[in-house]
Amino acid sequence: MIFDTHAHYDSGAFNADRYETLEAAHAAGVGLIVDPGCDARSSQMAIDLAERYPFVYAAVGIHPEDMDQYDLESYAAVCELAQHPKCVAIGEVGLDYYWDASHKEEQKALFSRQIELAIELDKPLIVHDREAHQDSMELVLRYPEARGVFHCYSGSAEMAKELLKRGWYLGFDGPITYKNARKALEVLEICPLDRIVIETDSPYLSPVPMRGKRNDSRNLRYVIEKIGEVKGLPLEEVERLTWENGKRLFGIE
Ligand code: NI
Repeated sequence: MIFDTHAHYDSGAFNADRYETLEAAHAAGVGLIVDPGCDARSSQMAIDLAERYPFVYAAVGIHPEDMDQYDLESYAAVCELAQHPKCVAIGEVGLDYYWDASHKEEQKALFSRQIELAIELDKPLIVHDREAHQDSMELVLRYPEARGVFHCYSGSAEMAKELLKRGWYLGFDGPITYKNARKALEVLEICPLDRIVIETDSPYLSPVPMRGKRNDSRNLRYVIEKIGEVKGLPLEEVERLTWENGKRLFGIE
């Protein structure tokens, strides 16, 4: 069975066929999915999907790109949703200096606050780090109890080693199948087999040969194939390892 540890089925891109797509993915062997919210509204939608389907779990949080939606009321709503029994993580949270490099301090303050929330609730974090590698690593390592996954990991192999040493997991997505994937593949090579999780980031980041189309969890097979190739493992073994890793990371029995 395949575990898609990061897919935004709450996204408007699935408005026309959300339930059909989820059910088709499940029928095709995707046994577990985590849907991370990006603001109060999408976090509520992720929880709704998790209540509807036993194979869907939710994460809740405020994404740096959605900082303008952040106020006391929306933060209180996220904190409340975080207590839901099917909320398995705080995310997607982090830093995005590609999106907005002019509010770094505000982004860091919101990220810190959500790291503290995860620690308080003893849940893992799903970290978004885009062109903010140094600050993202410094912030999470400032909290020794913080744990979780760097989603669609895009940092260096050196930074990966630091995170791995501290127990973090790394998420691998469609971009490892791209022609220019050199850096991500170097990281995959050094990443121990018990710390790799697989993600689609649906509806984004479709792997080759589906690049440019809307992504969904069924396309994880291309990511699994690439990991098998790099690690020299049969596909069933990649599927089994990443399934176990995802369940351990999110505390799913
Ligand atoms: Ni995402």
